[in-house]
Amino acid sequence: MTSTVASQGAVLGDELAALLDPRYVIPGSAADARFRRDVLGKYAADPAFVVRPASPQEVSGVMRIAGLHGASVTVVGGQTGTVGGAIAAPGGIALSLDRMDKVVAVDTAAMAMTVEAGCILQVAQEAAEAAGAFLPLDLGSRGSATVGGSIAANAGGNRVLRWGMLRDMVTGLEVVLADGTVVSSLTPMIKDNAGYAWKHLMIGSEGTLGIVTRAVLRLRPRPVTDQTALVALESFDQVIALLRRLEMRLGGRLSSFELMWGEFYAVMTRSQRESRSQPMAQGHAFYALVEMLGGDAENDPDQFMQALAEAIEEGLASDAVIAKSGGEREALWAVREDMAPALAACHPFLVYDVSMTLAAMPGFVEAVRAAVLVRYPEARFLFYGHAGDGNLHIIVNLGRGSANASGDEDTVDALVYGEVARLGGSIAAEHGIGRSRRAFLHHSRSPEEIALMRRIKQALDPDGLLNPGKVVP
Ligand code: LAC
Ligand code: ZN
Repeated sequence: MTSTVASQGAVLGDELAALLDPRYVIPGSAADARFRRDVLGKYAADPAFVVRPASPQEVSGVMRIAGLHGASVTVVGGQTGTVGGAIAAPGGIALSLDRMDKVVAVDTAAMAMTVEAGCILQVAQEAAEAAGAFLPLDLGSRGSATVGGSIAANAGGNRVLRWGMLRDMVTGLEVVLADGTVVSSLTPMIKDNAGYAWKHLMIGSEGTLGIVTRAVLRLRPRPVTDQTALVALESFDQVIALLRRLEMRLGGRLSSFELMWGEFYAVMTRSQRESRSQPMAQGHAFYALVEMLGGDAENDPDQFMQALAEAIEEGLASDAVIAKSGGEREALWAVREDMAPALAACHPFLVYDVSMTLAAMPGFVEAVRAAVLVRYPEARFLFYGHAGDGNLHIIVNLGRGSANASGDEDTVDALVYGEVARLGGSIAAEHGIGRSRRAFLHHSRSPEEIALMRRIKQALDPDGLLNPGKVVP
């Protein structure tokens, strides 16, 4: 029996090597760490092979070989996801697009760029900028996340409030289907209602319906001014009032409104104190990191300062620090984004990514805090997120020392998602479902919706080859 399985594996490996070149077919046991576990260290992957195709045709060939052998295929990009979405099944194929990592073209007449799926997000951002344009998608993991992985996750990040999620930026898409068919519509057109919008089925499907190989992304004119401030607030009513005021006063130029609860700010600034000075005192209830990107170098700084000064005068905020240089701007963003030292101090931690109306958010936070503390009196929390989008992230350390007991995560998941369901929120705002959230999908989706998802999956991937065990329970 074992020898049959082993020889089948050998045949699969031989066929992949014949297709790609043996150099690009790596035994799973010899592959880099990102092919063998997720970034949070929660799931182990055990692919038989890691393959590195260099074209959509080669990806198609991999799918055909996989189909003949009944081997599953999981695309692994930057492995920056938090839900175990890129964990290859035992004996399956982990597919890397790291040899398809190019910016193919930046077209500033059409205001669109064509990129290969393995392109690192920051590389795409810089290519757009070098051409005098702007790719608004921005995430903390920009330096390692790939464009293809971001599309598969319908990533959001820091500027959704103004430019939307990836779904709003992808004009053209190319995917390889489970049966190896290459479907390509690499168009820069913004308006295109010619039949079903199949690209939207693929965006956010987490590698379960097709493999993204190339995409056309919509560009914007590169902003001329970049105003950034850190604002202190004492109540959630102020948070909502300030957000609405800035949206109105800045006339569509507000591009980020990132919210940090007081304890998040304290932990972050404390963990960074060796390397950075604290931009504002601790002890406020909330801190908002606010960004305005504009086109008027002469007037934008004054208008931004004016809007904040007015807000403080009218009691919508208690204090604000405005960055006066690129270095100061970077330092303000670091308070929100440079999370590695704080996360190291919070280890082991659980991560949540939920959304709800802003009105519901403060009650939700207090309900979660109270419910978790009843079970885990030593628990510590980091609440923060993209408040402009109603998107809250939660990091929880249960105060159990170096490891949580088995079952702890299930207990806290049930508490958090139970509260989300009660409010009619989403259990997955921008990180997706992957493996770790699939048992909770019913908290945000009806039985009919889940049945529809199953029918779509069945129609596009009847043999269950693409990223098995993710999204649909
Ligand atoms: C962030 C990631 C966790 O916004 O989505 O920090
Ligand atoms: Zn986020």
